[in-house]
Amino acid sequence: MRTHYCGQVTESLIEQTVTVAGWIHRRRDHGGVIFIDLRDREGLVQIVVNPDTVDTFAKAERLRSECVLKITGLVIARSAGTVNPNMTTGQIEIVATDLEILSMAEPIPFQLDEKNVSEEVRLKYRYLDLRRQEMQDIMMLRYKVTRAMRRYLDDKNFMDIETPILTKSTPEGARDYLVPSRTHQNKFFALPQSPQLFKQLLMMSGFDRYYQITRCFRDEDLRADRQPEFTQLDIETSFMEEDAVMDLMEGLFKTLFRECIGVDFDYPFERMPYSEAIQKYGIDRPDLRFDMQLVDVADLLQDIDFKVFAAPAKDPKGRVAALRVPGAGAMSRKEIDDYTKFVGIYGAKGLAYIKVNDLAAGIDGLQSPIVKFFPDQVIEIMQRVGAVDGDIVFFGADKAKVVNEALGALRVKIGEDLKLHNGPWRPLWVVDFPMFEADDKTARVAAVHHPFTQPKATTEEILNHPEPSQLLSKAYDLVLNGIELGGGSVRIHDTHMQAAIFKILGISDEDAQEKFGFLLDALKYGCPPHAGMAFGLDRLIMLMAGRESIRDVIAFPKTQSAACLLTEAPGLVDNAQLLELGLKFRKPAVESVQG
Ligand code: AMO
Ligand code: AMP
Repeated sequence: MRTHYCGQVTESLIEQTVTVAGWIHRRRDHGGVIFIDLRDREGLVQIVVNPDTVDTFAKAERLRSECVLKITGLVIARSAGTVNPNMTTGQIEIVATDLEILSMAEPIPFQLDEKNVSEEVRLKYRYLDLRRQEMQDIMMLRYKVTRAMRRYLDDKNFMDIETPILTKSTPEGARDYLVPSRTHQNKFFALPQSPQLFKQLLMMSGFDRYYQITRCFRDEDLRADRQPEFTQLDIETSFMEEDAVMDLMEGLFKTLFRECIGVDFDYPFERMPYSEAIQKYGIDRPDLRFDMQLVDVADLLQDIDFKVFAAPAKDPKGRVAALRVPGAGAMSRKEIDDYTKFVGIYGAKGLAYIKVNDLAAGIDGLQSPIVKFFPDQVIEIMQRVGAVDGDIVFFGADKAKVVNEALGALRVKIGEDLKLHNGPWRPLWVVDFPMFEADDKTARVAAVHHPFTQPKATTEEILNHPEPSQLLSKAYDLVLNGIELGGGSVRIHDTHMQAAIFKILGISDEDAQEKFGFLLDALKYGCPPHAGMAFGLDRLIMLMAGRESIRDVIAFPKTQSAACLLTEAPGLVDNAQLLELGLKFRKPAVESVQG
């Protein structure tokens, strides 16, 4: 059909006859001569159609953008003035001798290089959107990354093993997507939130090192970095300690960045305990590209007359923290109001501030609606946060959770707005996660990672601990630029320890048996110590490609409301189909659906 890709016809082919095929990217009629930029996966090439090739010219006259052609012609050097040094094929053009129209195209709903096309339109016509060079580049990057993953893991003796999609609920903690069973009426499969339990079973089966690039399904509130179905690089290993697993994963991560986008991390990644992350950054996935930190000041403000600060300062669950933004003292009233609204999203009731105009002048050099409430403490606070003239210092006072979330998010927002980045990439391991957290919904404790994660304690210590919520776990997260790229843990491989964890979680023996019986049974028959991790592939590609949303790096993503605009899924189904599944017959919601 063709001898070369469009994007590969270069000077070396001058004076040769080639055949190329692709889409019309652009077509220009230059009074007698028609120029066509023909596009395929590898790029563009310029085709010249002269009127003396009568048949060919006649065909070229009725073409429009996105028609698919096969063209044979002679490669010639472009004349001096028309060389395009920015194009791989910019030195040559192909003079068409034969032109075959393989497919006509109707006028397309948007031009591929049009800027302000809404995401809805792009997703509805995703096959057109994907023709754009930047989308082609992203998909190619995604492919290169998964290829490099496989190669790295292959070299390290990992086996790719598939696990079921129709399965039981897994313990990742989001809402399940359910699939009704026809053959077992009233029973449901759950789509896996991850292959967690299966990969542990594979370790018990003796496979030693498993990986899978696999789809996971979670019915949760969506965000720019969350899709209802997403892809994980899922990994599990036997007989490896926590540090060894992290080293292996770090090696993988570095290899991917070096091979796929030419970024070299020639240093070991920083490791930070969870408690330090919360203390300094308010969040368990700190974006270290910004140096700003939350600084505790509650100890100085317990006895002041300003209730807004004094009450949380005295509350054991409260927090009063300052956030110094260097050089931002000229911030306008409106900007401060906007940031106050922003922290409101996280539940903050206000955003107190002090502008540092002239520290040498003492309290008179500070501009703020609140310094009058604590004139005796304010200078010490300024010293503690390291304020200098020209800074602004923000304050959050509330329950610790609110302050952490509000100032944690504000830190990143201001950092982005004022471009305070200290570098392009800041990978970080967050370690020593708590084992349990309070579950707001049930007033019980829940596992922070999942209930199969090993605590940093023996079974005895777990059962006798006066305050189990203080137990730490052998869990680790890899964070890049404030995004959680991956998480994993050392798993429990002992039935007694597993029972102790279920006890603290308030999961009865019957419940445990009903939900995870197969895993608990398997634990009894010889289980190697094992540990693993899963990377969010979509998030990794999003960061590598410099995009803001994982929708941009998934060929056919879903919208924020978990719908596919291209196929219009989810859709209604026939009542006959429902009845067969034992589901309740209901009136058709629209007339076209017949039961
Ligand atoms: P976890 O639940 O932390 O761990 O998931 C691992 C990684 O998957 C990515 N991720 C998502 N990406 C896009 N959309 C989503 N809705 C979404 N949810 C998660 C994140 C996250 O870090 N079984 C454990 C892993 C283990 O313990 O080995 C697990 O799934 O990048
Ligand atoms: P008020 O006394 O409510 O007018 O608040 C005085 C200043 O404190 C304003 O700048 C408010 O934005 C700020 N403020 C109010 N509540 C809080 C809070 N919980 N945390 C931080 N600042 C607050």
